[in-house]
Formats: sequence, structure tokens, C-alpha cells
Amino acid sequence: MSYEIAILPGDYIGPEIMAAGLKVFAAAAKVTNFNYHTTTYPFGGAAIDQVGEPLPAATISGTKAADAILLAAIGGPKWDQAPKRPEQGLLAIRKALNLFANIRPTHVNPALVQRSPLKAEIAQGTDFVIVRELTSGIYFGEPRYQHAAEALDTMYYSRKEIQRILKAGFELAKQRRQHVTVVDKANVLATSKLWRAIANEMATDYPEIRLDFEYVDAAAMKIVQQPTNFDVIITENLFGDILSDEAATVTGSLGTIPSESRGDSGPSLYEPIHGSAPDIAGKGIADPLSMINSITMMLRNSFQETQTADLIDAAVTATLQEGILPPDLGGKATTQVMTKAIIQHI
Ligand code: NAD
Ligand code: IPM
Ligand code: MN
Repeated sequence: MSYEIAILPGDYIGPEIMAAGLKVFAAAAKVTNFNYHTTTYPFGGAAIDQVGEPLPAATISGTKAADAILLAAIGGPKWDQAPKRPEQGLLAIRKALNLFANIRPTHVNPALVQRSPLKAEIAQGTDFVIVRELTSGIYFGEPRYQHAAEALDTMYYSRKEIQRILKAGFELAKQRRQHVTVVDKANVLATSKLWRAIANEMATDYPEIRLDFEYVDAAAMKIVQQPTNFDVIITENLFGDILSDEAATVTGSLGTIPSESRGDSGPSLYEPIHGSAPDIAGKGIADPLSMINSITMMLRNSFQETQTADLIDAAVTATLQEGILPPDLGGKATTQVMTKAIIQHI
């Protein structure tokens, strides 16, 4: 049995952290005899440069046929004025593979409590998950246009789209602390009012779940004020994008947080929640932990391969406990030093 994994290194720090992650993965898989095969596909700005498209047809068919997909990050100033942007490819692959549920964990590693910008007593024990709707909302709603005098975006949600993402969140909460917070703007937005109505309907199917609601502005405050209050946050596309960068920072750095994007069937896509970090690309200082954590998330959620995932997690924790930290976590270790140290612990 061997798993096929599609690799999308992407742009700027993307290839740097992908290479680091794959080295750590290979070292762990060797110890546990975990079999896999990788195929690399062009995606994002790199694909625009190669073939003029951020999401080439071969990348769609290759990723669709894989057992899981690893993506590092795409985008950057090189393509900001290009007729097609790398970000269009990212939205298009999410849509093409129907990856409507984006799972973004916010877990404060005890070894990193002191790295949180929050006081340790507030940050410690934080362990929640943002379930972000990923294939609808204002990112995809029609009509949309940009003219010189005006521009329009449309926030749209169908009942079916809301139901399936809420269900994903309620099911996740069942396996966790049975607490769901739906984050919305139901004091203003029609889509949010529909989300609330459907969430209340669904709650009757989940009597064991404690359901509450927060407006997104208040939620943004509470994430830094009392982050341990949350278990599963379910929210629409744009709110989830914004809150997940904020939540990531509570854990110490955006540079450590992985995510899974999944649909009802087919492969999941695993990627850091951060971008291509053009400001630090090429300096060898990118934090590889977001990519390494994306790989362990893949091993657990797509392959039920806890042995290899546990081995990597333990090596990461041991490295951090030794005080070997990348610059975004206040240390001096380069990407290469981090990678070597983690492999040594494997
Ligand atoms: P960013 O997430 O790339 O960077 C924000 C800040 O976090 C920067 O200071 C960066 O140096 C730092 N950072 C991010 N990842 C890090 C890591 N692994 N190690 C150390 N520091 C890290 O956001 P941005 O600068 O606003 O966007 C840059 C580009 O990335 C844009 O083109 C954007 O559209 C794109 N983007 C892509 C994705 C993706 O591929 N999924 C996600 C977000 C942004
Ligand atoms: C993310 C990114 C993307 C998003 C961008 C690059 C389109 O910020 O994955 O969080 O907004 O979804
Ligand atoms: Mn984002």
C-alpha cells in the first residue's frame, strides 16, 4: 500500500518550507516504514511563469487523482499586476475539488506559551478550531465587477452550503469539547441571519452540543481576551480568513499553523494558513513548522497514520523545548537548522 501525494510548492517561501517539510516527512516515514509517492505540480505564480496559468489542467487532474495534496503558499508582488493572479488559482482549486470545509486549528503548544504576544496566563490552554467555509460567500458570489467609478462584490450563501459547513463543524465538536460558536454579523447581514436560523435548526440534531453565537467584531476581541473560551468556531469565508490569522498569532506565530481543506469526497488539501511571505523569502529564515504541521495533519486525517505523525510531533516539541526556535518565534534558527534539529530527534 502506497499513498500518492500531490505536491504544490508554490511561490517565494513556498518551495523553502515545502523542501523542509518533505525532508522531515521522509526521515519519519523511513523509521515507521510508511509508504508514499509524491508528484510535484506547477501552481500559483510558478505556474503562471511556466505555462501562463495559475492552475494548469494537469495540476487539476493530478491533484484530483491523488490521495492527498500538500500546498505550501502562492502569490507575491511579482504577479500583483499580472492579468491572472496566483490567488485565482488557489480559489479555483478549492472550487474545482469542492473543498468547502477549511479546518484551521489554534493550539497553544505548552513549549511556546512564552512566545505568545498575550500574557501566558491568558494564552495557555488555548485549543480551538476555526471551521471556515471555503467555496462560497463574498469570495465567489456573483455579480462582481470593478469599474472606474464603482465596484461590486456579492455575499451569497445557499441553504445547502450553510448546512454542510455547519454539519462539518458540529461533527467536529462532537469529537472535542461539544461547544460550537457560530461567528457572524447577524445584526446586519442577511446571509448571517440565514446562518443563525439554520444553526438553530441543526442544534436540535445535536442535543449534546452547546451552541452559542458571536458577532464577528466581538469574536475578534474575545479571541485575544479569553481564547480558552472557544472550542469550535464555525464561520463564513471572509470572517474565517481574518479571524484565523488573528487566532494564529495567539499561538506565537502565523508561521506554525496548518490547515485541512476538505469536501464530501476526494482528496483533502493541506496547507499553512499563511501566505508566501515575500518579505523573508530567499533569506533561509522561513518557519517550516506550518508545513511540517500540515504534513502531520495529513497523516492523521487522510491516512490515519498516527505513528508517523506522533513521531514528527514529538521531534518538533523536543526541538522547541531545547530552545531551537525560528526568528518568527523569537529565536535564531534558520529553516535548515530547524529542519536538521527535528530530523535528529526523529
Ligand atoms: P503572509 O502570510 O505571506 O505574511 C504575513 C507575515 O507573516 C509576513 O511578515 C511574513 O514574513 C510572516 N510569515 C508568514 N509565514 C511565515 C513563516 N512560515 N515563517 C516566518 N514568517 C512568516 O501574508 P502577506 O504578506 O499579506 O501575503 C503575501 C502573499 O501571499 C500575497 O500574494 C497573498 O495573496 C499570498 N497569500 C497566499 C496564501 C496561500 O497560499 N494560501 C495565504 C495567504 C496569503
Ligand atoms: C488564505 C489566503 C487566501 C484566502 C488568499 C491568498 C486568496 O489568505 O488561504 O487564508 O483569502 O483564502
Ligand atoms: Mn488568509
